[in-house]
Parts: sequence; structure tokens; C-alpha cells
Amino acid sequence: MLPVPQLEDLPDPAGKRVLVRVDFNVPVTNGQIDDDLRIRAALPTIEWLTGRGATVTTCTHLGRPKGAPDARYSLGPVRARLAELAPGVELLENLRFDPGETTNDPAFVDRLVDGQDLYVNDAFGAAHRAHASVVGPPGRLPSAAGRLLAKEVEVLGTMLAGPARPFVAVLGGSKVSDKLGVIKALLDQVDALVIGGGMCFTFLAAMGHGTGASLLEADQIATCRALLDTGRRILVPTDIVALGPGGEIGRPEAGGEVATVGRDVADGWKGLDVGPATALAFSDEVKAAGTVFWNGPMGVFEDDRFAAGTRAMADAVAGARGFTVVGGGDSASALARFGLAGGVDHVSTGGGASLELLEQGDLPGLRALREAAGRG
Ligand code: 3PG
Ligand code: MG
Repeated sequence: MLPVPQLEDLPDPAGKRVLVRVDFNVPVTNGQIDDDLRIRAALPTIEWLTGRGATVTTCTHLGRPKGAPDARYSLGPVRARLAELAPGVELLENLRFDPGETTNDPAFVDRLVDGQDLYVNDAFGAAHRAHASVVGPPGRLPSAAGRLLAKEVEVLGTMLAGPARPFVAVLGGSKVSDKLGVIKALLDQVDALVIGGGMCFTFLAAMGHGTGASLLEADQIATCRALLDTGRRILVPTDIVALGPGGEIGRPEAGGEVATVGRDVADGWKGLDVGPATALAFSDEVKAAGTVFWNGPMGVFEDDRFAAGTRAMADAVAGARGFTVVGGGDSASALARFGLAGGVDHVSTGGGASLELLEQGDLPGLRALREAAGRG
């Protein structure tokens, strides 16, 4: 992966004002932060700058407000946590309260950089968005990647460039269509691709199995068939934990039978997790790997009845002998929830960003930093 300018490449930050784009888009429930990984992960950069006498102003988006202030996406809880972890560091208003952020409006970039001397991008999780705060400031201020951004790019780049073999990628989550690009890119790199989560049903349908009321992207069946026909090693579940008619996800009290079935899910039944035989087979694959990349839960783990597959995967990844990378979002939350994050070599702070980096080999936020360095 092409190098990006580092903190050391900046002019001396002493006495300077530094705008730091962070990704503090953390999960918040009822005003409480569920997982502050993204805030803690930015501290090395913030401390590097403040330790050298800089005044740091951070900025982030939170959620997807539509270009106007929206109390549901208040940065209040984030501001409070940041004040505990990095006292005195400023945090601007949610960037997406301004319509100019997502449209990359030059006038919004002007306002962001006003009064600032330097810019640092440490928002790996947002580096795939060509938004104002990500791609704008590098054209205006001396700019560099923060420690987190640099580390994410290095780990993911090294994983692709020369992985210890066998290299096993485990993909889950609900939508195949979201992951097709990365599936295609990874198929050329990996020794085995393991498919779980809601998206496994489109693969099972492509193999001719019944999927009942499970998640299915009918318009992707042909594509999944073509992927299976490549002859690459693609592992799909051999058994499924399914919820019977009348049952509701997250509401065991609603009733509905829960059963482990084979690859065929009956009409009216919803496959919501991989079964025990699958969990065992997937775990064996992961344990024997030299390199593991995991993105996306194996089932609806928020509901305890459908958590076992994801739990088994988290255990296998955390216990694997090989180099293990977990790509952000839900799989990172699952690891944290099971208390296993410490067992993984690298937990990426970017879900979409890590997938796009693996697929494209570059990101808009990285290009902007590189192009600015080239101009300087
Ligand atoms: C993320 O949570 O993946 C990043 O913060 C990006 O958020 P977005 O998908 O709303 O752009
Ligand atoms: Mg290991």
C-alpha cells in the first residue's frame, strides 16, 4: 500500500493549532457509550500533539443526521468521555449537522480550517468517505496521518501483501450485495473464504437449498453461483439455527420454536445463526490458519438464542495461533461483548473502511494526504 505522510513529516507543532479529524462514531444507547474503542484509539495521536505543545481541536461525525442539528446524534456523551481521557481537548459539533460535510462543500472546508495551522487525519473509520473534513483540509494546511490511521493502513496492507498461509477470511453480516466487491477481491488472495451471517442464505439458495423466511437477496443468487463456480475454497454452513413461525428476534417471550436444521430451512422459518457443526468446522479452519481476517457476525448475536455461532467464531479468532485481524463494526462489538478483544492481534476501528481498503487498495482520505504532500 502506498505510504502516507506521518506526524513526523509535519512542521514542528509547538504553539500551533491542529485540527484532528477523528472517528468518534461510537455506539450510544440511551446517552451511554457502549464501546469507547474509537475514542481510546485516537489518544496516541492527540497525546503526541499536545505533548509537543500543540492545541488540538478534534472533529467527528456521529451517526447519519441529515445535514441539520438532531438531538438523537448529540456528541454530549462523546464529549464527556473525551474530557475524561484527554482533558482540555476541544471537540467541534457533529460534522454531519452541516450539509457541507457530506457534499464536500469548499465553504464548509474553509470554516473547518479557519484559525488552524495543521491538519491530522486519524479517522480511519471514515477514510473511505470523500467528505469535507476528510478530503478538504489536506489541500489547505500541512497535513499528515495520525498514529491510528497509519497503523490501520500498515496492518491491513501487510496482511494483503504477504500473509502467512493459509490465509482465511471469515465474512458475515446481513448483506451479500454490500460485500461483493470485497468477496471478489479476497477470493484472489485467500486460501479459504468462510461465509456466515445473513448473507450465507443467498449462497445456500445458489446451491439449490430452501431458505424459508431467512434473509435472501434474490438478485444476487446468480452472482453467488458464479463465485461458487470459481472453484475457490468457499465454506458455507452445513447446519443452521432457525426460528419458527411466530417467533420474534430479540423477544424470546414471544415464543416460536428454535431448532437446528441442515442446509434447508423450511417455509416460515428464519435462519438466524450457524449451527454447532458449522461453528466447529469454521473454528477448525480459523485455528489452523496463518492469517485470519474476520468481518461480520455469524448470526444475530444480540439475541442470546442466536449468539453461539458468533461466540464460537470470536473464541476461535482470539485463540488462533496465526495473525488475526478483526474488521470493525459488529464483529469488533461482538469481541468486546465477549471480553475477547485482547486476544486479537489487530481490531480495526473501521468496518466499511477496512473492507474498502482491502477491496480497492486505497481510500479517498489516504489519497488526499498523499496528493497534498506531493504538492507541498
Ligand atoms: C463507521 O461507523 O463505519 C464510520 O464511522 C463511517 O460511518 P458512515 O458509514 O455513516 O459514513
Ligand atoms: Mg494469534
